Amino acid sequence: ESNGITDRLHRPLQDLRISVTDQCNFRCTYCMPKEIFGPDYPFLTPTELLSFDEIVRIASQFAKAGVEKIRITGGEPLLRKNLPDLLKRLRAIEGIKDIALTTNGVLLPKMAVSLKQAGMDRVTVSLDTLDNDLFGYINGRGVGVSPVLRGIEAAYEAGLSVKINMMVKKGINDKEILPMARYFKNTPYVLRFIEYMDVGTSNGWNWDEVVSKNEIVKMIDAEIPLKPIDRKYYGEVAKRYQYADGQGEIGIISSITDTFCSSCTRARLSADGKVYTCLFTGRGTDLKEFVRSGASDEDVFNRIVQIWRNRSDRYSDERKEQGTSERKKIEMSYIGG
Ligand code: GTP
Ligand code: 5AD
Ligand code: SF4
Ligand code: SF4
Repeated sequence: ESNGITDRLHRPLQDLRISVTDQCNFRCTYCMPKEIFGPDYPFLTPTELLSFDEIVRIASQFAKAGVEKIRITGGEPLLRKNLPDLLKRLRAIEGIKDIALTTNGVLLPKMAVSLKQAGMDRVTVSLDTLDNDLFGYINGRGVGVSPVLRGIEAAYEAGLSVKINMMVKKGINDKEILPMARYFKNTPYVLRFIEYMDVGTSNGWNWDEVVSKNEIVKMIDAEIPLKPIDRKYYGEVAKRYQYADGQGEIGIISSITDTFCSSCTRARLSADGKVYTCLFTGRGTDLKEFVRSGASDEDVFNRIVQIWRNRSDRYSDERKEQGTSERKKIEMSYIGG
């Protein structure tokens, strides 16, 4: 139950994505190109980051306003010191039913068990290819595929449920769609393909680089027959397909060609305490200074309700309707997808 709080387009507030750091140990070409995110890049300073106390206070008020699912993001969230301590405290918030994490997976062998013990339910690991050279190029750090595969296994062995996210960019890794599908079929892992999106301002996005959901489905279906299946819950981002032989499922996140703004139930909290009501907004509403200047829990609650009631974002729908859309946008590495 989402406490009845809805936005201007009647969408309930159900999920909170919390970015805990804007730093990452990768430099993916489409997310944090190393030419831009170099040694002089002005990352958030320790005092700019929300403390765990502040995150927990804010998340508690989001839970009162209807949030049931929390996803921890970054940058790379496992770089945030003592993350399991934060998870334990988020787990204890009344009303929170599901806690997940989006990660590049490299630190999972070290951390999976403590994440599970702290109360984490699920992880989603990003992996764009099984080709070592290509992967090393994409992640900008020459890291091979096996550290990520080890991370995936470590998460599974620790008892976490695991999804794999593959961002698909034409001419870069579209030839990896089938190898990835084959590799993850018959495994406990649900593979999801993400259409390349025009997030941020540093990736030079272009329509021609998008491989559409329909193209992806067609490509896989030709070799391994697929059938569409129903969504698991209201507001699910991925369209789901089952292998016709019953051996697993995939998902496709089609933010470009088959948009899902009409059921978008997600609020995003940046590592420096701003609330963003869309992945593609340029401006968030500050909660950090508000909390630091002595706002009560009730004040924070009221501000959250006000932000959500005012919300009318539907960027992906607009992009689709208008073919293009120019505006100032935040970086993916800052808001965590
Ligand atoms: P589940 O809880 O497992 O369903 O996770 P999820 O699919 O909501 O979260 P995940 O972080 O795995 O989402 C995968 C990617 O989909 C994100 O990294 C974004 O790239 C994209 N995505 C998620 N939510 C939105 C959204 O509201 N709008 C758009 N345009 N893209 C989104
Ligand atoms: N388009 C689509 N997906 C992206 N991601 C990062 N940048 C983009 C983009 N421009 C993906 C990452 C990761 C998730 C957090 O978002 O690959 O899987
Ligand atoms: Fe790559 Fe994710 Fe890091 Fe961005 S945040 S550079 S997509 S690993
Ligand atoms: Fe939600 Fe904005 Fe994504 Fe639409 S574009 S689904 S409103 S985050």
